[in-house]
Amino acid sequence: DTVDWDPEDAGKGEYDHYMLKEIHNQPTSLANTIEGRVEDGDVAFEALPPGSFDGIESVQFVACGTSYHAAMYGSQLVREAGIRADVLRASEYESTTGPVDETTLTIAVTQSGETADTLDALRTAADRGARTLAVTNVVGSTAAREADDAVYIRAGPEVGVAATKTYSSQAVTLALLSQRIAGDVPDATPADDRAAMLEALADLPEHVETVLESTHAETLAQDTLDSESFFFIGSGLGRSVALEGALKFKEITYEHAEGFAAGELKHGPLALVTEETPLFAVYTSGDDEKTKTNAIEAKSRGAPIVAVGPTDHPLVDVADAHLSVPETHPVWAGLLANVQLQLLSYHAAKQLERPIDKPRNLAKSVTVE
Ligand code: G6P
Repeated sequence: DTVDWDPEDAGKGEYDHYMLKEIHNQPTSLANTIEGRVEDGDVAFEALPPGSFDGIESVQFVACGTSYHAAMYGSQLVREAGIRADVLRASEYESTTGPVDETTLTIAVTQSGETADTLDALRTAADRGARTLAVTNVVGSTAAREADDAVYIRAGPEVGVAATKTYSSQAVTLALLSQRIAGDVPDATPADDRAAMLEALADLPEHVETVLESTHAETLAQDTLDSESFFFIGSGLGRSVALEGALKFKEITYEHAEGFAAGELKHGPLALVTEETPLFAVYTSGDDEKTKTNAIEAKSRGAPIVAVGPTDHPLVDVADAHLSVPETHPVWAGLLANVQLQLLSYHAAKQLERPIDKPRNLAKSVTVE
């Protein structure tokens, strides 16, 4: 007898799909991302010692797809540090960028380092005099070689087309980078609770482990699958997670999913809300009133509400279900919420028998514009 043996399957180990393996790899990949980058209560990047960002006055992020959502996460933290920061879709760079000069730091966020749209934006920014930095997973990639500097997210190889562990490592790297940049820009204000934030980061791998042990996302996927559309809302950091949650869901389930800023729900998307449209409300801290009031609005139209975040939050009381994450600093809570949403998408796609690791029409890295 012979056994069909697909060399590509060999790396999956005990998991049915690379995507699940990569989701479960996150405690390790995140520990690698963080390793050596927090020292004596401060952020350190070997390639970018203090003074590296002297002369920088504003930051712009360029990225596509999931990397764009990680860039949204990072750009909010740079803005919170008192530095002007924009996040631009790489494919729309020409028409969306403001003035660029040598005081601009353009950060290309790209897992592969090979996405044509992102490389194009990076080159345009460099031509206009910007200082460039690649934040990538692939050592020696085109983005890493072409940018003035490169920072590696150290997530390890990712085979599944849908990005999971690389998103988490990108967001953590960018959060740390926001503090490193703030150290060099005059008048910037590094987070005043930075010590607490960095301390909580040390627990992130363990907190992800806790999320991975819960089976709630799997049950919920089963219970909600028979729906018309899936909506994801959030505000601030929660908004970028909501957008990523919707992208992941549509990529691998082929079901209609959309992410909105919580406050925008009532300005149009609410017309689509019925009892057939579950709404996932992502929050990162206790004071996320907007997400709560808009979730209540959707609930009054009959939509089942799923709260995604820490337990100690008023949204949990109004929700029909709760995908919970451990209590942590608000900067990291969104990343834990995202792991719950990764599991939700995975289990929904599995129940629908989708080709999870290779969704139709999609490629891991798109090298055409
Ligand atoms: C493709 C992939 C997405 C990815 C995007 C950006 O569209 O299907 O999962 O987020 O490219 O890739 P990058 O390598 O630049 O992060």
